[in-house]
Amino acid sequence: MKITYHGHSCVQIDNLIIDPWLTENPVANITLDEVVVDYILVTHGHNDHIGDTLELAKKYDALVISTVEIADYFENKGVRTFGLQPGGQYAFEFGSVKMTPAIHGSSYTKRDGTVIPMGIAAGFLITKEDKLIYHAGDTALFSDMALFKGVDLAFIPIGDVYTMGIDDAVEAVRLIDPKVVVPIHYNTFDLIRQDPAVFESKVEKARVKTMRPGDILN
Ligand code: NI
Ligand code: MN
Repeated sequence: MKITYHGHSCVQIDNLIIDPWLTENPVANITLDEVVVDYILVTHGHNDHIGDTLELAKKYDALVISTVEIADYFENKGVRTFGLQPGGQYAFEFGSVKMTPAIHGSSYTKRDGTVIPMGIAAGFLITKEDKLIYHAGDTALFSDMALFKGVDLAFIPIGDVYTMGIDDAVEAVRLIDPKVVVPIHYNTFDLIRQDPAVFESKVEKARVKTMRPGDILN
């Protein structure tokens, strides 16, 4: 399993990409032309997460997996979609995806400034090749994270302002108890500047893997 971090919240697992914000992402390591995917998972409607979903989905006839509201939005644009809601799980060819809650907003802002409500925000528990991977999306800390059992790898936001900051993220890691944790959603722009070394020093049990955009997890 090849897991690549493309910066911000964008994580690629083989032919699957989560929150593909590349074109306008100031820290992305690749351009849209360099990504080949069959599945696109979108945690919520904010532009830094929907990103290039439409272009990628059209280019590869990729399946967009997201909340029912976001799935409906893309279905109306001629894209193949699969809608879930928190608590729901479905077995795809590559593995299964369970949608988790996230405490966060979910709206999409069009180029002309029109804001489209996109339901609620979510995270994903992805089971692939016997590994359980949690992508938290954008979220605050919530105590029900303790209910996620057997997580091998967790992608957790630490940027603060819009999501958990470092101290809440450390508590999230304590609740989730993953084997490995990768901090995301920080240092993309000034408002979410954080030192991942501080996060690393505060996490007690899990192995922290700080990834730069373009890094492959090993
Ligand atoms: Ni967001
Ligand atoms: Mn975000």
